[in-house]
This record gives sequence, structure tokens and C-alpha cells, in this order.
Amino acid sequence: ENIYDIAVIGGDGIGPEVVEAEIAVLEATGLAWNFSSYEAGDDCLASRGQALPQATLDGALAAQAVIFGAAGVSAADVILRLRAELGTFVNLRPSVAYKGVNCLHPQTDMMIVRENTECLYAGIEAQLTPEVVTATRVITSQASTRIVNYALEWARQAGGKKVTAVHKANVLRKTDGHFLQCCRAAARQFPDVPYEEALVDSVAMRMAMRPEEFQVIVTTNLFGDILSDLAAGLIGGLGMCPSANLGQAHALFEPVHGTAPDIAGQGKANPSAAILCGAMLLRHLGQEQWAARVEKAVADCVADGQATSDLGGKLRTMEMARAVIDRL
Ligand code: NAD
Ligand code: IPM
Ligand code: MN
Repeated sequence: ENIYDIAVIGGDGIGPEVVEAEIAVLEATGLAWNFSSYEAGDDCLASRGQALPQATLDGALAAQAVIFGAAGVSAADVILRLRAELGTFVNLRPSVAYKGVNCLHPQTDMMIVRENTECLYAGIEAQLTPEVVTATRVITSQASTRIVNYALEWARQAGGKKVTAVHKANVLRKTDGHFLQCCRAAARQFPDVPYEEALVDSVAMRMAMRPEEFQVIVTTNLFGDILSDLAAGLIGGLGMCPSANLGQAHALFEPVHGTAPDIAGQGKANPSAAILCGAMLLRHLGQEQWAARVEKAVADCVADGQATSDLGGKLRTMEMARAVIDRL
């Protein structure tokens, strides 16, 4: 039988707490897993002098896929480096309002396809004078075309959902103008997929008021970062939002949320985002039926009020994980 080799990086704060829940659910499928744990993050920096040790990077590169929790102030040194080293150019961020979650917009069901390699995340900052600092926003044809093609293909597979290319080309004429040109050219190759363009500021307003207007959003790295937390806010918070970093050869699954220092170490973290990452991992491994079963088990739990306090429930992190396992 196939054994899935998975690198596990819990990280800091609630990272290890939600990853423990995710692994318990994956183990409960009865599939053959070989999990290898690695250190990274603030605690690792303090104890070993490096936020992302070579052994962790090597383990992530050697594994079939990576499960990640969260890193604290060193997050940029850990997760951005991992995304780059693993060549994950897509950041797939679904926001789905589950029944029973008391949230702003219960009808929300959207996928944000976030470009994962460039934009203001290119890491090109400069101090021109003591008073003037700059950051360089990098937009390339290659990365733009690759991400919009991914979004269009995803929308087609999902039955012809509408793709909205989100930009700020009215001000960032060169960079977002170029992104938009790449989007348009790609969209012409997908005549069966509905396609539109919208300015990021008005998208933020429309998401807050009428999120049902959006199905698939494709956008540059920083806008995708910000809009995915906004989308989380519509569906009951960051505790419900998983994400997948996907590339040609590697995949890393992480909740959209961070280390949540305000609730870390108290068993209060909602494990749903991480457990839903497990479902995305299962789907990536070709285990579609198990992916759907895990998603339904989370949905059933939440609908029954078997949830953590952020969702109005009374369960602790691992209690919710067990409630999900009971419904598998
Ligand atoms: P955060 O996502 O950690 O927390 C924001 C709010 O959401 C907090 O009130 C928190 O309690 C709540 N929350 C988040 N996840 C939750 C969960 N699973 N269950 C219940 N409530 C949850 O964002 P922040 O406070 O802005 O950042 C804290 C640290 O995390 C920072 O150091 C930041 O750099 C880091 N961070 C890391 C990642 C990552 O590793 N991928 C992502 C985002 C932020
Ligand atoms: C996220 C996080 C990261 C990002 C940070 C921690 C580097 O906010 O995964 O959304 O900006 O991509
Ligand atoms: Mn973010």
C-alpha cells in the first residue's frame, strides 16, 4: 500500500495545537501515513539560532507534502522562505461559510487564488536616505500568466465559476496594468469561463456587503493576503480558513491564521482551519472521498454546535478534533 510521507512543522503559538488536531483527523482515516516533525519559528530561533534550520528545509523538500501550523515574528523568514524554496506559486484560499456558524455573510463561498512568489513580497526594499525608504513591486508575465491560468482552470473544473481579476491598474499603471493584460490574454483562452475585472478597493467594499458576487478571485500577492483575511471575517473568522501552497513538485498546507498569541497555550484554538488543510492535503493526494468526508465532518460538527469558543461553542481544541473524528 501507498505510504504518504508528510513533513510536519507545527511552529509557534497555536500552530502546534491545531496541527496536532489535524494529524489526529488524518490518522483517523486509516490511510498509511509517515509523519516527520521538524522545527521552525520563533522558539526554534531562540533555541537553535535559526528560524528555518537546514534540516527542516531538507525535510520539507524530501516529503511528499508539508503540513505547517504558524510562525510568530519570524513568520516571514519561515513561511515566505518555504514557499519560495518549494516553488509553490499558487496560494489557494477558500472561504466557505459553514451552516451553524454565526457570521456576517452565511452565503459566502469563494476561492481566492493568490499569486505566491512576487509583488511586494519580492523582498526588495531599500533605504535611499535616512528619511526615505522604498519597496519594489515586481510583476512578471510568467508569474501573472501562471496564476491566472491556474484560476481559470480551477473555475472551469468547478463547473464554470466566474473569475474576477482584482487589481489597482488605475494607479499602478505599469505593474497592475501588466498583470491585467496577462489576465485578459489568458481569459481569451477560456471562452467558457465567465471573466471580469475589478479594482481592489471596490472589491473590498463589495466583499463586505455582497460577497456572493464573487466566486473565484485571482490577484497579486499582497492584495490576496489582505482579501483572504477579509474573506475570513465574513465567514466567522480565521479559525475556518485553510490554504494550500501549490507548485510543480511540492505542496504545503497551512491555515490562513497566525500564532494567535492572545489564545495560545490555552486549548482554545479552533482546529477547523488546520483540519480543513488536512482535507486539502487529502484532495491533493488523490483521496477525494476522504477529503469530502473530512469537510462534511467539520460541517456537521459546526452545525451541531460542537465547536470552539470563537464559534460560540464550548469545546477545546482537541475535543473538537475528536468530535470531527466521531463524525467521519
Ligand atoms: P492571527 O491570525 O494570529 O490572529 C488574529 C486573531 O484571530 C486573533 O484574535 C486570534 O486569536 C484569532 N484567531 C486566529 N486563529 C484562530 C483560531 N484557529 N481559532 C480561534 N481564533 C483564532 O494574526 P496576528 O495576531 O495578526 O498575528 C500573530 C502572529 O502570527 C504574528 O507574529 C504574525 O507574523 C504571525 N502570522 C503567521 C502566519 C503564518 O505563519 N502563516 C500567518 C499570519 C500571521
Ligand atoms: C499569510 C501570512 C503571511 C503572508 C505572513 C505571516 C508572512 O499573513 O499566510 O497570510 O503575508 O503571506
Ligand atoms: Mn495573511
